[in-house]
Amino acid sequence: MKQNEFDKKVNRRNTNSLKWDIKDNEIPMWVADMDFKTAPAIIKAIEKRARHGIYGYTIIPDIWYESIINWWKNEHQFEIKKEWLQFSTGVVPAISSIVKRITNVGDNIVTLTPVYDIFFHSIENANRKTLESPLVYENGAYHIDFEDLENKLKDKKTTMMIFCNPHNPIGKIWTKEEIEKVGHLCNKYNVVVLSDEIHCDITDMDCSYVPFASVSDECLNNSIVCISASKAFNLAGIQSAAVYCANEKLRKIIVKGLNSDEVAEPNCFAIDTIVAAFNDSKDWFMNLKQYIYENKQIVKTYLKENNLPIKLVESKATYLLWLDCSLVSKNVSKFASFLREKTGLYLSDGKVYRGNGTNFVRMNIACNKTQLNKALRMLKQGVLLYKKIG
Ligand SMILES: Cc1ncc(COP(=O)(O)O)c(C=O)c1O
Repeated sequence: MKQNEFDKKVNRRNTNSLKWDIKDNEIPMWVADMDFKTAPAIIKAIEKRARHGIYGYTIIPDIWYESIINWWKNEHQFEIKKEWLQFSTGVVPAISSIVKRITNVGDNIVTLTPVYDIFFHSIENANRKTLESPLVYENGAYHIDFEDLENKLKDKKTTMMIFCNPHNPIGKIWTKEEIEKVGHLCNKYNVVVLSDEIHCDITDMDCSYVPFASVSDECLNNSIVCISASKAFNLAGIQSAAVYCANEKLRKIIVKGLNSDEVAEPNCFAIDTIVAAFNDSKDWFMNLKQYIYENKQIVKTYLKENNLPIKLVESKATYLLWLDCSLVSKNVSKFASFLREKTGLYLSDGKVYRGNGTNFVRMNIACNKTQLNKALRMLKQGVLLYKKIG
């Protein structure tokens, strides 16, 4: 039988990898990049570009726009117009730039917590205030507290909401109804929505995400959306993303901002990789989705069969699992450090995501099954040891 390409071990040590530049005995399953080689068509495109030997300034050709527009049309049934799109050197650079252009020093920016921690950096480094609307955690699942959200949006100092769709770290795909309500409330209180959709492609096989701007005219005309190929195709280091905005007035402001902040120009590999990803890598991507889905089932089964006192939050998107460890420890940060120190398993401490993240760890399962199974054994060993001496 042909070996599954995702089963292959790729050694990332000594490659200046943020994730893997750690001790030899450690297994990193924290930061959100994958331990899989990207799609063959992308590697080929980069090799071709590299062989050319001249790495000068790069323009953004029509094919870049077309590849994005077609991917969203085919995969997400949403039509992005060419004139809405703007290149950016990453989603985080775009968010930081947009926060500075759309809001003022001292304004509130609302987020649903727990959420991707870098949002807080983009907000607070710019001297704006994070206003958390904590998600409600009930029976192992999260939902929005719309009454609390409305109160936060109503505040005169609130001018923006950063929405994570699907939501990192809980892996939730927001429904059309939920998005419609969020969009309506933001519109009612003149709060601009910045929807970060970087995780939109990796979902379970039987479902797909709902683009924020696709839901209603209110959502379309009052949102700025960040998208990227970097999660689905493992291209974070290529530093390329896109922002789209249907509202011309808002768009003019953000385009000027992205240019003034010097985050609007591609490096010489950025265009070819995106085109190869969205135009020529669909089969690879479908196999990846299947593999990640299988990995999720492995974790679920392992936790159950081994009776570990850890609850997996049901999720339909991302390769990040959100593990409720409140029965293991009253101090999950301490447990996360203990786990790393005693077993070598390096997970993300949920505290950084705020909200009720203090009871959780986040586990990145985008790795081969041999590593995943090893990590699960380390997790079990860590729990048992922690119960004894932690
Ligand atoms: C929700 C979210 N937004 C943005 C990023 C990073 O985006 P970029 O690497 O394009 O700056 C991540 C990375 O994990 C993420 O989870």
